[in-house]
Amino acid sequence: MTETTIIRFENVSKQFDDTTILDNVSFEIERGKFYTLLGPSGCGKTTILRLIAGFIEPTKGTIYINDKKVNKVPANERQVNTVFQDYALFPHLNVYENVAFGLRIKKMKKNVIDEKVKEALKFVNLEGYENREITEMSGGQRQRVAIARAIVNEPEVILLDEPLSALDLKLRTEMQYELRELQRRLGITFIFVTHDQEEALAMSDEIFVINKGKIQQSGTPTDIYDEPINRFVADFIGESNIIKGKMMKDFLVEFAGKQFECVDQGLNENEAVEIVIRPEDLEISVKEKANLHVRVDSQLFRGVHYEICCFDELGNEWLVHSTKKAEIGQEIGLRFDPEAIHVMRLGETEEEFDKRLESYDEVSQ
Ligand SMILES: Nc1ncnc2c1ncn2[C@@H]1O[C@H](COP(=O)(O)OP(=O)(O)OP(=O)(O)O)[C@@H](O)[C@H]1O
Ligand SMILES: [Mg+2]
Repeated sequence: MTETTIIRFENVSKQFDDTTILDNVSFEIERGKFYTLLGPSGCGKTTILRLIAGFIEPTKGTIYINDKKVNKVPANERQVNTVFQDYALFPHLNVYENVAFGLRIKKMKKNVIDEKVKEALKFVNLEGYENREITEMSGGQRQRVAIARAIVNEPEVILLDEPLSALDLKLRTEMQYELRELQRRLGITFIFVTHDQEEALAMSDEIFVINKGKIQQSGTPTDIYDEPINRFVADFIGESNIIKGKMMKDFLVEFAGKQFECVDQGLNENEAVEIVIRPEDLEISVKEKANLHVRVDSQLFRGVHYEICCFDELGNEWLVHSTKKAEIGQEIGLRFDPEAIHVMRLGETEEEFDKRLESYDEVSQ
């Protein structure tokens, strides 16, 4: 717990009808950062937001906001505002009245409301849209009204539950920039939910990868992309080659029937592991210089690169991203550096994983 911590979950579990939806979740959210909860449908993302907002109470554990226990504090007494997936705007009210709604409930003076609404609309680039009906606004504009309605209350935290999922790809990309820029300008903590890994990598200061009601890994986008802790994270974040292997000794790992130099240490001799190599870390090379020999099975052109699917002699599948085109059926060599091999210990927790990485740093210093 530091001064910058704004929200803290301590061993929080949530059950609905005896089913555990969140399982002993602990984390800290710092002031002024952009967080993303990332995970597949049903993993518990919305449940976490609802717990923070105060719409539901935890079954076990404690939630702190600004170091104060808030398990029993009702939603309207928390400095938190939510932007829902469907925006939940009032269709019979115009833009101005939608944004002013919360302030009217608080019985603020008319001129104060006027000023705050104008400022909020200016922030989201909707000046001059005050009298428009919601039904006359595009998807992206509705999105901005929903955000204006949240920021007008000057909350400390804004929760955004898949706010971009209804938009087409181009608008979605534009809104990703806008949202990120808006968060920087406001300096308010954003907690954003998505099941789109590219969106999470592009937008976040910190990502929590969630599966089956547990946080699998938390960290910066690069931490999570470069050092996935387990098969789930490696698979969910970006495309990966995940192969079963065995640690021979420090800096030597065996997979695909061969031994390779690697940068991992501190595992047991002969320990069963899984290794990850990202498709962009595999380079097509002449056979003599290759680490592996594979046969090209299929390929797709993805605009910037070819996505080439190959198989080695043992039947392992290897996905390669290359600007060079391959030929189906051709035998090719693949080259990779020791740094490209990420060794994952089976069943390792995030805490154990972090400790292991720290011990590498100590050794290398
Ligand atoms: N009020 C409730 N009663 C019973 N089960 C619930 C309730 N709310 C959520 N659940 C269950 O909890 C699990 C997690 O739900 P949650 O809405 O948090 O998932 P999510 O990660 O937001 O998924 P999605 O990406 O589909 O929105 C789901 O299996 C859901 O059916
Ligand atoms: Mg949800």
